[in-house]
Amino acid sequence: MDMVDPFGRTISYLRVSVTDRCDFRCVYCMAEDMTFLPKKDLLSLEELDRLCAVFIEKGVRKLRLTGGEPLVRKNIMHLIRELSRHLKSGALDELTLTTNGSQLSRFATELADCGVRRINVSLDTLDADKFHAITRWGHLDKVLAGIDAAQAAGIRVKLNAVALKGFNDVEIPEMLRWAHGRGMDFTVIETMPMGEIDEDRTDQYLPLSLLRAQLEQQFTLTDIPYKTGGPARYVEIAETGGKLGFITPMTHNFCESCNRVRLTCTGTLYMCLGQDDAADLRAPLRASEGNDLVASAIDEAIGRKPKGHDFIIDRRTNRPSVSRHMSVTGG
Ligand code: GTP
Ligand code: 5AD
Ligand code: SF4
Repeated sequence: MDMVDPFGRTISYLRVSVTDRCDFRCVYCMAEDMTFLPKKDLLSLEELDRLCAVFIEKGVRKLRLTGGEPLVRKNIMHLIRELSRHLKSGALDELTLTTNGSQLSRFATELADCGVRRINVSLDTLDADKFHAITRWGHLDKVLAGIDAAQAAGIRVKLNAVALKGFNDVEIPEMLRWAHGRGMDFTVIETMPMGEIDEDRTDQYLPLSLLRAQLEQQFTLTDIPYKTGGPARYVEIAETGGKLGFITPMTHNFCESCNRVRLTCTGTLYMCLGQDDAADLRAPLRASEGNDLVASAIDEAIGRKPKGHDFIIDRRTNRPSVSRHMSVTGG
């Protein structure tokens, strides 16, 4: 019954990108003039709900909504409320989101009410001007208010920052203190070459081994076996008592223990973030009212999940090794 891939990895984590749209345009994520999918190509919320139910029946225990920005999808709370039935029934261990935080003030209470216990907020800087620059027009205040609202609603917040050389590398120690001071875990991420952007990724790329060495000059880092089901490897920081996660797809990949697949808002299933191969679930979903066709399409797709990603930062051509943008699958 469980989904097991050809490398013996059990798939128990589904990431669902509910929209490719976002109210920001982070420079490492999107080009400024991104074209988004026409709304008519999106699966309805009912169709997304149906697909999630099939995955849960097939063994998914952790479900994360992503985007683009998941909270800009129209009526998203309707879907989240529906999905919360799987928490109540015990079929799902965790229903969560990765969000840019811009809409959290509005939705925090309702999210908590639906059983969302923990969310990840993407935040690359605590400097309002730099924040405005990296998101191209976002307002830091709104995100900070969103984080406060989430915490006030009893939701645990983890901060995610993409480590960018010359942009936020010097600020990471301060962000770490800030996050831990507020009871949040903090994760740093190596930038991955996905989709054409307006910037030079080789200039931005910062191997986290370097960042770790820098941090070790100020903090005492102890590796800990803490696991969330995601790819981060955690250390505890003695000086703050908080946790810091390293997500290192480029320097120390974690594909061997991969437990996840990604569904997009058009019903495409990506078996790996760093590969282009995908399976269409929309046609089998729409072909019949029963779920057997979808279930076999999922089995077939899991049967060709690749061993790992193909990301390379190619200093010569500077072309992304994966052509689609991160916003298609939400990381
Ligand atoms: P936790 O449940 O808190 O562990 O979260 P998570 O790390 O699973 O999810 P999140 O959305 O916070 O992901 C953080 C970053 O990790 C994103 O930038 C993702 O792109 C990256 N990431 C997550 N899973 C994978 C993966 O399978 N491969 C690669 N290369 N990157 C991943
Ligand atoms: N490399 C690494 N992480 C990225 N994200 C967006 N684009 C990239 C990239 N090219 C991150 C966001 C967010 C998560 C969904 O993915 O900052 O934390
Ligand atoms: Fe939006 Fe997230 Fe991409 Fe930034 S990283 S543009 S917040 S999808």
